[in-house]
Amino acid sequence: MKFENILVEKNNSLAQITINRPKKLNALNSTTIKELHEAFELLEDDENMRAIIVTGSGEKAFVAGADIAEFAHFAEQEGVNLAREGQELLFNYVENLSKPVIAAINGFALGGGLELAMSCHFRVAADTAKMGLPEVSLGVIPGYGGTQRLPQLVGKGKAMEMIMTAGMISAEDALQFGLVNHVTTQEELLPLAEKIVSKIIRNSSVAISAAIRAINAGFEDGVNGFNVEIEEFGGSFGTEDFTEGTTAFLNKKKPNFLNKN
Ligand code: COA
Repeated sequence: MKFENILVEKNNSLAQITINRPKKLNALNSTTIKELHEAFELLEDDENMRAIIVTGSGEKAFVAGADIAEFAHFAEQEGVNLAREGQELLFNYVENLSKPVIAAINGFALGGGLELAMSCHFRVAADTAKMGLPEVSLGVIPGYGGTQRLPQLVGKGKAMEMIMTAGMISAEDALQFGLVNHVTTQEELLPLAEKIVSKIIRNSSVAISAAIRAINAGFEDGVNGFNVEIEEFGGSFGTEDFTEGTTAFLNKKKPNFLNKN
């Protein structure tokens, strides 16, 4: 896969996407958003890929936000289009990917950068990382899902404060708030994410996809997450992985999942 602003590497069943515009602190311009969409789509369709880690190049930034230079002259309708297209192409797309997506936050995750990290299924951070939604300091609000996903992760009050102050929080505070699951050193960040992935891929990827759908359903308007869980739970019983997992357990063996529906 050849891209201008991102790098995609595959190592066995793990893919790593690195946002690679270090001179602009990996800011998300429209090309980068389109490339990310394309990369996620290719990896979603690649049967050999079981999990994806997203990170930023260099040690300074994960992503320092949407590219301010690109939208500074936009009028209202262009603003609506920017947010809608971005949400559909990237942020909602990542959240609903059937494979686990983990953000490894290696530095500044601001604005669209934090919104991208929040779209991932969960996050780990380097102890040097700084996170925030500074949009109101630019006279705009978060437009890539930040007003919705930040309250889901940290609670309404903390989200209100973070968005209103436009401030940055440390990785330690993000850990306390539940915004990230683990904090480690810069050097250990990718190894930690890979260690978590190695635990994930021992399990049935078919069941993991069903769990992602059920968890996400609880956050969708007009959808009853409990009902989706019941359906997905029932659906699992028809999979080869269910037969393999339960039979292996009863025979005191390790399962050898086929990862097929
Ligand atoms: N969009 C476009 N360009 C950005 C950017 C963004 N979100 N964030 C950083 N850059 C660019 C800078 O303009 C600068 O480019 P230049 O060298 O061509 O002038 C380059 O990246 C380096 O950034 P700089 O501001 O010089 O680094 P710093 O160490 O002084 O500050 C930050 C780092 C992250 C505090 C600062 O870059 C910043 O506040 N960025 C914007 C964050 C933001 O508001 N994001 C939300 C956007 S909606």
